[in-house]
Amino acid sequence: MTGTNILDDSTVTLTRYQELWDAFRQRELRQGLYTAGGVVMRDTLLDLHGSDHQLRRRVENRLFRRGTFRTWEADLVPEIIDEAFTPVIARGAADLVLLGTRTVMNLTAKVAGVDRVTGSVRETDALQEFATKFSEGATLIHTTRDPDVVRAEVSEALGRFDEMFFTPSYERRTALLADPAVAEEEYPKDVLTALIRNREELRIDRDVMLREVAFYLQAGSHSTANAFTHSVDEILRWAERHPDRAHRLDDDLFVQRCVHEVLRLHPASPEARRQAVTEVTLRDGRSIPAGTFVRMDIKAANADPEVFGADAAAFDPDRTVPSGVQPWGHTFGGGMHACIGMELDGGTVPKEGEAEHVLGTVPLMVRELLRHGVRLDPANPPVKESHSSRDHFGSYPVLFGREVS
Ligand code: HEM
Repeated sequence: MTGTNILDDSTVTLTRYQELWDAFRQRELRQGLYTAGGVVMRDTLLDLHGSDHQLRRRVENRLFRRGTFRTWEADLVPEIIDEAFTPVIARGAADLVLLGTRTVMNLTAKVAGVDRVTGSVRETDALQEFATKFSEGATLIHTTRDPDVVRAEVSEALGRFDEMFFTPSYERRTALLADPAVAEEEYPKDVLTALIRNREELRIDRDVMLREVAFYLQAGSHSTANAFTHSVDEILRWAERHPDRAHRLDDDLFVQRCVHEVLRLHPASPEARRQAVTEVTLRDGRSIPAGTFVRMDIKAANADPEVFGADAAAFDPDRTVPSGVQPWGHTFGGGMHACIGMELDGGTVPKEGEAEHVLGTVPLMVRELLRHGVRLDPANPPVKESHSSRDHFGSYPVLFGREVS
């Protein structure tokens, strides 16, 4: 059986694990999803190709090193989790969609280099609204609304975001970098600082920095918040099915395995899209003519029975995967555009004798809830988003019970 079918006279759809693995690594397939969303995506990392992409990625990669993640995991992430979780846990109830969104927004703002001035919930919610609008702009290719209207709304939102958040953040960093009394170790560890410091080498102006930061806000937040809610959902349902094994959730590494399995089953971006720059020959010998679009179905490839087994569609945290395959499948993409935040969110797969294991933001957030006896609210069942075909929850009410320290 082949996983390829031609949608129209040019688009090629790939659905098998190996096909996607190959296509992500073809250097002559360039990003094909964001041209329509140029209002917010033009010249951002995900939209760049070739040497321009390589240069930008090299600069930003320095920030997303394992050592930085371990530092973030030791202080920044627990601090941000505490700030959002403590009040709702004390109250004994929460909506995980709201809780996840707010926590992750604050974390993403920190990583992107967007300062919160007041630190209030209203400010976080304002950032969230901006991120949602930028996300709508990025995915203009899929919009069912008038594209010109969406473009105008996104452009207006970018202007307000610039005034409210970007300008103060940019000016603070520019002043810090110009101050000889400030040592390099004291510079903020975030994307905006890295861009300002390397602006000459990267040949970028303030507008590109504004869009890059706006892109980060949405790239880092919605996907992580969704992974968090789906993780709690799958875990609670698994524990209900296996009460005799629920004690395993006290083990951080088991929680991380659960999250990896959730990431595989519920990829935040169900598809990636590329366009052939020149004629491309896939590993199986097929030829993709120049200009052809390639649709990569991540959700289907992540459930490929040849790689993940006959029960690939089921949640099984004890699933083993073939060597060379990540437990989350293609959820974080691969090749040149592989997600830069992958280890920040999902951590690293534990290896024998490793000294540098990272648990990841999502497992840390889920662990915090489990420690406080998270359970479904019997009077208020979770609800999936009604206005979207995507696999997202609109609300997920929970209660907290037992506390295990
Ligand atoms: C569960 C969480 C996440 C998922 C599922 C996810 C998924 C993805 C995917 C599939 C891509 C590649 C898209 C393509 O090839 O067309 C990507 C790229 C990217 N992601 Fe993530 N992401 C997540 C979290 C994050 C976080 C937390 C950040 C940053 C704070 C982030 C920043 C980026 C960036 C900058 C790129 C572009 C990389 C490049 O083009 O070189 N992501 N992500």
